[in-house]
Amino acid sequence: MTQGSTAAEPITAIEREALERLTTVADEGALEGWFREYLGRKEGRLNALLRGLGALPQEERPRFGAAVNAAKERVTAAYEERKGTLGAAALGARLAGDAIDITLPGRPVPQGTLHPTTLMIRELSAIFALLGFQTIEGPEVEETRYNFDLLNIPTNHPARDEWDTFYIGSRGADDTVNEMVLRTHTSPMQARTMLAQEPPVRVIVPGRCYRYEATDASHEAIFFQLEGLAVDRKITMADLKGTLTAMSRQLFGSDTRVRFRCDFFPFVEPGVDFSATCAVCGGKGCRVCKGTGWLELGGAGMVHPNVLRNVGYDPARYSGFAFGLGIERIVMIKYGIDDIRNFYGNDLRFLEEFAGTRI
Ligand code: PHE
Repeated sequence: MTQGSTAAEPITAIEREALERLTTVADEGALEGWFREYLGRKEGRLNALLRGLGALPQEERPRFGAAVNAAKERVTAAYEERKGTLGAAALGARLAGDAIDITLPGRPVPQGTLHPTTLMIRELSAIFALLGFQTIEGPEVEETRYNFDLLNIPTNHPARDEWDTFYIGSRGADDTVNEMVLRTHTSPMQARTMLAQEPPVRVIVPGRCYRYEATDASHEAIFFQLEGLAVDRKITMADLKGTLTAMSRQLFGSDTRVRFRCDFFPFVEPGVDFSATCAVCGGKGCRVCKGTGWLELGGAGMVHPNVLRNVGYDPARYSGFAFGLGIERIVMIKYGIDDIRNFYGNDLRFLEEFAGTRI
């Protein structure tokens, strides 16, 4: 018994040492070294004890062998557990290194917004749709005959001087030079529309126009107009006034009043300019309307009989009205903007003001 316990002593000592050192093993590499030292098949210290079995007396061998094997089992179990912990820790460390933090807010995708001019075109189209008008578009690079001649503005007519025009020469197939222009107004679409169809006509034409002129707070060389044209039997000035009054009230509020004054445009007779009561002061007079109580919105009139004839309509049978508005001007009035140069200056601080506007 005494002998047995003496023989078992190194087993207990090696086991204790192995388990103790195992707790200090910090990574998989160190664990491998530890394994070789205590559990390795050849140089492992527990297996070495078994190799010394032959030196023991016959009757002690089974007990000693069993004690070594029991110790080996416990040490192996401890080893497996440590290996698991270290493996999980290593995996955890690797995952932590690769991790993305899904709780971080995403990078915002910059989102564009509709330009105030686009918003106003949509608003006007919606208003005129209720009044039975179809929205159409036309070319910005236009033939002079649509921009001028068919609209009762013949070559050398002094009225051409009213439009400071960007001319573009283009050589036709027969080598004649056709004068093309960047359209000075949307009115050429009056002629194009009437040439393409018979009455009744009810269209609006939003679009970009160009004039060769100096830029200031209320003038741009590039700007948008909205043309309107209605031609049918028995269209009168009352229809024109009713249409523009309805539009103004939709835009600026139901108590808006509208004023028409004589004006001259070669393609209308009679011709007027029209104004609405100032949307800011309600007609009392303020800085925006320069104390007058009125804001001028555009030109209008009854389609000139010469224009009707030019497009093949019989003025004895048909009559019509036309009008043209400055779109930026309406935005400026509605939102209190004092400089038209904001529109195409590409300053995001201005453009983002309209981010929430829906139409
Ligand atoms: N085309 C004119 C302008 O640009 C406006 C207008 C349109 C006037 C239709 C009368 C009728 O000034």
